[in-house]
This record gives sequence, C-alpha cells and structure tokens, in this order.
Amino acid sequence: MTFGCQMNEHDSERLAGMLEEMGYEPSGDPQDADVVVLNTCTVRETAETRVYGRLGELKRLKAGRPGMVIGVCGCMPQREGAANEVRRRAPHVDLVFGTHNLDEFPTLLREVIEERRPVVAVSGEEGEIVEGLPRRPGDDLKAWVTITHGCDNYCSYCIVPYVRGRERSRRPEAVVGEVESLVAAGCREVTLLGQNVNSYGRDFDEAAGGAGFARLLRRVNDIDGLWRVRYMTSHPRDFGLEVIEAIASCGKVCEHVHLPVQSGSDAILELMNRGYTAARYRDVVARVRQAVPGVAVTTDIIVGFPGETEADFRQTLDLVSDVRFDAAFTFVYSPRAGTPAAAFPEQVAEEVKKERIARLIALQNGITREENQKELGRSVEVLVEGASPKNPGKAEGRTRTNKLVLFAGSQGDRGKLVNVRVVRAGTWALHGEVIP
Ligand code: 5AD
Ligand code: SF4
Repeated sequence: MTFGCQMNEHDSERLAGMLEEMGYEPSGDPQDADVVVLNTCTVRETAETRVYGRLGELKRLKAGRPGMVIGVCGCMPQREGAANEVRRRAPHVDLVFGTHNLDEFPTLLREVIEERRPVVAVSGEEGEIVEGLPRRPGDDLKAWVTITHGCDNYCSYCIVPYVRGRERSRRPEAVVGEVESLVAAGCREVTLLGQNVNSYGRDFDEAAGGAGFARLLRRVNDIDGLWRVRYMTSHPRDFGLEVIEAIASCGKVCEHVHLPVQSGSDAILELMNRGYTAARYRDVVARVRQAVPGVAVTTDIIVGFPGETEADFRQTLDLVSDVRFDAAFTFVYSPRAGTPAAAFPEQVAEEVKKERIARLIALQNGITREENQKELGRSVEVLVEGASPKNPGKAEGRTRTNKLVLFAGSQGDRGKLVNVRVVRAGTWALHGEVIP
C-alpha cells in the first residue's frame, strides 16, 4: 500500500519486484495477503494519520491470521523518532525500515519470518545508489524513472531532505539504459523523477553548469520507440534557459511543466528559503509559455506558512489570478518536527489556514474550469490508458498537457494514440469524440 508521491509509487514497484523474486505473488486484498507493506509518506501530518488508520484496520485482520507479516517503510520511519513511535503505537508491525534500507528488504523480511521477531532497520546515512534492483512495473505503458534521489534545497517547511538524504543523481547511462529496456518491454511514456530535476547532474558534472538536465532530456528524447517524455518536479530557481530550449525543441517532451510556486509573497518565499521572488517566478512562466506554445503549467501552493499575513495571502491569490495555472495542488502548512519553520514563532491558527485554503481552492477551480473550456472544439492527442474505471462505456487517457480526456471506447483502446475533438470541458476532465 503506497502513500504519498510518485517517488514512493516507484519505490513500491521495486519492493513488489523484490517480493516477486522471492516467489510471492500480488494479492488483490489484504485479507488474503501473507505480507502487507505500507510504503509511507511524512510530508504532512495528515499523511501519517492515514498510515496509522490503515495500521488499525490491519491489526484486526492480523488478529484472525497471526502468520501475516506487516511492514512499514519509506519516509515516515526515516523521520527521527518515528520508527520507535510505530513500534509503540502499532506493536503488531513486524518490520520497520527506512528509505535508505529499501534494497535490504528481502533479507529483512526473511529475518522476520525465520526468527519470528520484529526487525527494525533505519540507517541514518544514504549509501551509494543501488542500480539494477528488480521492479514490477505498475503499468507497462507508462513508467516512472528516477533521475535524482534526495534533495539539497532545504526549503524551511520541508522534511524531504531529512528523510530522503542528500541529492544524488543517477548516471545518464543508467537512466538511458533503464528507459531503453522499458521501451523494449512496451513502455511508451516515461516520467523522469526528482525532487528538483533542474539540478540533475550537478553532483557529478560540474562542467555541465546546470545544463545536465537539458542534456539528459535530449538523450532520452532520442530513444526510438518512446512517444512521450515527462519530468517532475521543476524548481523555479534552477529552471534555466538550456532546459527551456530543450523542452521547446525535443518533440517527445510533453507540453506540461509542474512548477511549484508555494507562495506569491516575497517575504514568505524568503522565509521558505525558496531562492526566488514572485517576479522571477512570473518571468520563468512567461519564458516557458513563449518558448512552448500551449504549455500547461501546474503548481503546488502552501497556505498558512508561519508569519503569513492576510496581505501575504492576497499576494498568493493575485499571483494565481495572474498566472492562471491549469491546476494547482494546495496544502495547509503542516509543521514537521526538525524543520526550521516548525520552530518559527507566529504559527497561523488552524481556522485561518482552513479559511484561506477554501478561498484559494475556489479561485483555482474556477480558473482550471475556464482554462479547460478553452479546449472546446480543439483536437487533442490522447494516449489511451484503457476503460475508464468510473465511467462505463468510456475510455480515458491524457493529453500531452496531462489533462484527463474521456471518450466512447473500451479497454481494447489501451496503448493507442488517438486524436479527440473536445466537446465538453469540466474542472476535472475533458470529454470528446475520437476523430477517425
Ligand atoms: N506542509 C504543507 N505542505 C508541504 N509541502 C511540503 N512540505 C509541506 C509542509 N510541511 C508541499 C509542498 C511541496 C509538496 C510536494 O508538498 O507544496 O511542493
Ligand atoms: Fe522539499 Fe523544497 Fe526539496 Fe521540494 S525542493 S523536496 S519542497 S526541500
């Protein structure tokens, strides 16, 4: 069971791959499972609350099936003190391991089963990047490919650098080799993953001077048989001209940039240690839009950061109104122990945070809807993922700009590239007709 971001989804594919090598098979239902692993997130308090909720349900299941092994791994146990917290609050958990111990999973699991005792393995230091771990791809059509592990940015609110370690880039040959083997197995779309893709290669290739990611994009773009290339997450501070040129000139690189702004107030951006101003952010978006016509821009925004006044928040609303994001992920600030911002005075009251996020969501939903309506009558290219799980008789897929499109079709359309004329557009999806 995976919580949190794409990085975790991807790690879970590796865990599943290791289990498969050990002879396990996926089980659709925890009720029948011999081993249940929760790959957890700690970026916000709510993420941990959900993990404990699940552990509560599993406790009841395990009471009826004492042989079941329950594991908790990923970012939550890596947070200081949290592994012990899991042991105390959920003594039915047999195995706890951190983000730096992922590749030890088979050994740890055997230890639990053979020695019938709880095992905890949380290393403080990230080791060398382990290449060649097996993976069981969740999806043969689309795949995630890690390009950097960890993060060096130390945004003052964020726990990621503490639980995922220093930023380490994979060698370009390793990335290209992985994409080539995915494509050979039928994959058509890859998403290159890193907390800050724009600093890719900085740790081993100083000569690239920030152009490492642009070079990598060009190399991946050249891989035959691949149709689409995506990447996440971009950092406004490091989003340089070389990258803009690369995304503009590489035909497979999709017209979508996920560029978290976090706040529209310079005072708050400074306190967040983001390394750019709202004006610089607007400038980056303008350059990208000029170089890549029709590009979709999405973002992340935090409300209620310590010290955020009503005037600061209004600057966020102004930025959102002006930039007109295609979509935004909005979060209430959640203090994470050990990060600088958690110790800042002037924490914002919960009611104020709730009221602000409601205003922000209302504003952004209106903009998302209006931006989607601009697609009415247009023809969009859709990579079909198959039957829509929630809409009988419909198939669904995504545009190059990453918008969800529904149209009359079936699972048999999976893997096709079709052109669809948009006939209806809501906040969450576009509806269309396939152009024969
Ligand atoms: N509180 C709220 N949101 C956070 N994020 C990261 N840390 C926190 C926190 N402590 C958000 C940021 C980031 C996204 C993945 O999660 O917006 O871009
Ligand atoms: Fe966290 Fe900032 Fe790194 Fe993103 S860039 S993972 S928000 S520290």
